[in-house]
Amino acid sequence: MSDMADLSPESLAQLLRWYADMGVDVAVDDEPHDRFAESQSSAKAPPPPIQRRAAAAAPPLTALPALGEQMAQDAAKAQTLDDLRARLLAFEGCGLKATATQLVFADGNPEADIMFVGEAPGADEDRIGRPFVGRAGQLLDKMLASIGLDRSKVYIANVVPWRPPGNRTPTPLETGACLPFTRRQIELVAPKVLICLGAPSMQTLLGVKEGIMRSRGRWMDYDRGGTIIPAMAMLHPAYLLRQPSHKKFAWQDLRELARKMRDV
Ligand code: URA
Repeated sequence: MSDMADLSPESLAQLLRWYADMGVDVAVDDEPHDRFAESQSSAKAPPPPIQRRAAAAAPPLTALPALGEQMAQDAAKAQTLDDLRARLLAFEGCGLKATATQLVFADGNPEADIMFVGEAPGADEDRIGRPFVGRAGQLLDKMLASIGLDRSKVYIANVVPWRPPGNRTPTPLETGACLPFTRRQIELVAPKVLICLGAPSMQTLLGVKEGIMRSRGRWMDYDRGGTIIPAMAMLHPAYLLRQPSHKKFAWQDLRELARKMRDV
């Protein structure tokens, strides 16, 4: 491998662009590691002794349910959205916080009758601190406008409020860790209708295991702290940007949402 110091500024810029395209856009350590050299030497050398400090820093997997339970109790105590936001800022139970720039809590009107819950902040949201402000967000705005809605008439959040590195899909452990906060956020907003944007949101909030193409557009029940409200999964705008021919399904679902809003 060539030494970084030998690379021209143009080659370094190309390398950084390549890393970003591959999803490597967050530095998780101050020092670079040559993993090739490490794996070669560790194949020969005996395994390094277990480092006590590192082991103590991360909770063992068996501790996670207890951590989640404690967190759930804390989230349920939040009496206002500001209080919930402050509790999330103090929450250390989701590893995504370590690599994200900031908490991306919500956007829109907390008094709204409709709440949209997406997947996770992307790079633009992480920079600006509001959900759905990038290209997917612009498409979401157009989708809302198509049925006479805008951000003053809906409330928008995500199942995880921190950006996963490289925009990967949040893991069930991450969405599960944040779930008590998301559920409390829905209780505090108290929408009449819940819309899950994309499969991770649908799986996390509605417990649906089958794929989103099968489940989208169907009304399901969501238990909003003892009150059952209608909930529906829709295709995520980021997916629609990649599969524009599927916008017809989103249009069907939006019309169904508009119809439902006349009933509730
Ligand atoms: N995608 C999401 O699911 N949420 C955002 O906030 C932005 C993009």
